[in-house]
Amino acid sequence: MCRGMIECRNKLGIMISNVVYLSRKGGAQRIADAIAAECGTEAHNIAERHVLGQTDLLFVGTGIYGHQPEQEILNYLDNLPLNTIRGAAVFSVSKDGRDHTELVINLLRHKGIAVYPKHFFCPKQSLFRNHGRPNSVDVMNARAFAREVLNAYQG
Ligand SMILES: Cc1cc2nc3c(=O)[nH]c(=O)nc-3n(C[C@H](O)[C@H](O)[C@H](O)COP(=O)(O)O)c2cc1C
Repeated sequence: MCRGMIECRNKLGIMISNVVYLSRKGGAQRIADAIAAECGTEAHNIAERHVLGQTDLLFVGTGIYGHQPEQEILNYLDNLPLNTIRGAAVFSVSKDGRDHTELVINLLRHKGIAVYPKHFFCPKQSLFRNHGRPNSVDVMNARAFAREVLNAYQG
């Protein structure tokens, strides 16, 4: 993990954060947009064309399908060029609201990317439960999570 502000900044002294997500039904997208807003950037849907470039801190989010992240996001992370990302933080949205991001975390670590120890996970409305989630409180909590990670990486 980045140990202080100097290590996490580029030559101009600016820390570059990016947000990428996979979302089929919009739940992870809503959280990604909230995190991106806190970072002062825009979230990238991995299914759409985009260029990441050198990134100090990458937020990675996904919906959960069949107890795990979709294979597409694992492929996407696997294909990221080595040494372009310094640190990462992970979030997910699922019906049961539990953390199912282990595969994403293992993959990031395998690529030598330090992962923030706390993850953000949020329930999504299903037929009989969690009406309206992710809701405005979830959005607020996602922004607070992003702020916490940014502060930690900025030292
Ligand atoms: C095919 C499919 C499989 C799912 N499997 C799970 C699951 O195993 N566990 C869970 O908690 N939620 C599961 N869900 C619910 C999704 O995690 C939930 O809808 C979440 O919002 C998906 O993220 P998204 O809204 O960003 O697409 C599943 C949904 C679909 C459509």
